[in-house]
Amino acid sequence: SAAEKGGYDYFMLKEIAEQPKAVADTLLGRTDGSGSLTLDEVRIPANVLREVGKVVIVACGTAFHAGLIAKYAIEHWTRVPCEVELASEFRYRDPILDQQTLVVAISQSGETMDTLMALRHAREQGAKVLAICNTNGSTIPRESDAVLYTHAGPEVAVASTKAFLTQLVACYLVALYLGQVRGTKYADEIRAVVRDLGSIAGAVERVLETMEPVRELARSLAEKDTVLFLGRHVGYPVALEGALKLKELAYMHAEGFAAGELKHGPIALIEEDLPVVVVVPSPRGRSVLHDKIVSNIQEIRARGARTIVVAEEGDDAVVPYADHLIRVPVTPTLLQPLVATVPLQVFACELATARGNEVDQPRNLAKSVTVE
Ligand code: AGP
Repeated sequence: SAAEKGGYDYFMLKEIAEQPKAVADTLLGRTDGSGSLTLDEVRIPANVLREVGKVVIVACGTAFHAGLIAKYAIEHWTRVPCEVELASEFRYRDPILDQQTLVVAISQSGETMDTLMALRHAREQGAKVLAICNTNGSTIPRESDAVLYTHAGPEVAVASTKAFLTQLVACYLVALYLGQVRGTKYADEIRAVVRDLGSIAGAVERVLETMEPVRELARSLAEKDTVLFLGRHVGYPVALEGALKLKELAYMHAEGFAAGELKHGPIALIEEDLPVVVVVPSPRGRSVLHDKIVSNIQEIRARGARTIVVAEEGDDAVVPYADHLIRVPVTPTLLQPLVATVPLQVFACELATARGNEVDQPRNLAKSVTVE
């Protein structure tokens, strides 16, 4: 009913708007302004976490994209190797797991059969399983050794939005906590990022306030057949997520690429007026990557692409090559997906509406996939 949708036309719009609160709620009681983390609820003792030799993340769809981003954060802050795998592929290749392996299963519903089967397989091999889940008492957390709940509240729209942002928050918390417990050379950076997390809900709110031009752009592209997405570093999984949203909502051919791969094949797809969304990493931090992606934008534009550039406020190097510029607030490099994903959600939702599609219930899809 209209009341359930809180005045919005679709649950998806309501859930996009709820993201600042979902992010804040997921941080609540777990971080403080002093830069320390409290994650006692993760009932895996510190001595066990210190012995972890490998982290393996299993998930499906949007949750898998959260896992891909988590890998960058985990390996950087903890110095522990991390693999990310589609849950549906995991157990069938006889993966190498032991008691020193920490498996992280990410699932909004907690009922996804592929993810459940992957975690069962992991536990049979003696691995410890930590669930990141949005649904209290669902099967995946019940069968795991520990759980870190996301506090997105119920997500009704089939396309995941607020659950994804909170999965990212939970992944960062796990990465930072593991780094804190193990004591790496990044201790100071970890404390600074924990403090920075305190302003991230506000940053998401600011993105939401500037979305009208994105909606307008989406409407203008309603007749297109294809949209490509490019990203690098943590922007690469953001590109994959932008493409998945467009597939499931707008039923368009959409593909995400690592920008560095462009020259190894995908650049052949570029033609006159093809919309290409580029997620640009911060010019601070890993500035080499920033410069490389700016030259990618130049290359595709020279071949006629219509460039839609998602870039940090104050990043002026991209301005001459952006047909459309979408600004996101400045964040620490690894946290950028929390703000960069939001315009892509709005873009897909508006494109779906413009194409006359059912936003909350896309064809052929179910909210949770309880068969393998
Ligand atoms: C996201 O928009 C999709 N509907 C889908 O990819 C989803 O993320 C996937 O099926 C995993 O679901 P889960 O998080 O409930 O396990």
